[in-house]
Amino acid sequence: MIVVSCIGQKGGGSKSSTARTLAVGFTDAGWKTHLGDLDEKQQTSIQWCKRREDAGLSNIDCGLYRRVDTAVKMKAQCDLLILDGRPAAETTSLSIAIESDLVIISTGPTIDDLQPSLELCRELIQKGIPMERLVFLVAKTPSLAEGKKAQATIRAWGFTVLNSTIRFQPAYGQALDAGRALFETPFKTLNDEARAMVEEIHDIINA
Ligand SMILES: Nc1ncnc2c1ncn2[C@@H]1O[C@H](COP(=O)(O)OP(=O)(O)OP(=O)(O)O)[C@@H](O)[C@H]1O
Ligand SMILES: [Mg+2]
Repeated sequence: MIVVSCIGQKGGGSKSSTARTLAVGFTDAGWKTHLGDLDEKQQTSIQWCKRREDAGLSNIDCGLYRRVDTAVKMKAQCDLLILDGRPAAETTSLSIAIESDLVIISTGPTIDDLQPSLELCRELIQKGIPMERLVFLVAKTPSLAEGKKAQATIRAWGFTVLNSTIRFQPAYGQALDAGRALFETPFKTLNDEARAMVEEIHDIINA
């Protein structure tokens, strides 16, 4: 009955990749998990679920929703509802955040990416979302060093950020193309880095 959502101000900032990776991680760990795709236009998570099924990988329960309130009803039927948000949709991000126990704001490490993400976070707080419910994830960083720098900037704004970062790596993109989660690449280091993100989220929602 926990709702975790993946939102972000910018398009392509890893919302859907984070949501999909969490869905596989928690399903594998035995949680009854539902992945709610709120991006009716792109349907990224739904399409990925089909690719996953075609590849014969473990089944992920996923649905497409036009409305946040319809998606949220699914929480009664599962242990964990993961919501995959829409790009550049402030009102949707707010209504998603209102319904969430934890909101993951994924952002790239550059100022261009960070600035709008930090503004989004500030706006959610202004609109009444408790700060403890908001956590940043630095994703698609070209290096660990860039990731660390971005984490320091986020902390300087007074916000919480996951210790794990997700690097930009072709193997991650290829895994997603093949219906896999970010920890299902052929490379142990990449898988470990993505798993660390899932574990951090696990620890937060279990606390
Ligand atoms: N760490 C990564 N390294 C390389 N490619 C990645 C990584 N994470 C995601 N991608 C790819 O980047 C693209 C955007 O990722 P994703 O769909 O998760 O972003 P999004 O925030 O959901 O985008 P949108 O705003 O369009 O919904 C996808 O093609 C995905 O496969
Ligand atoms: Mg998406």
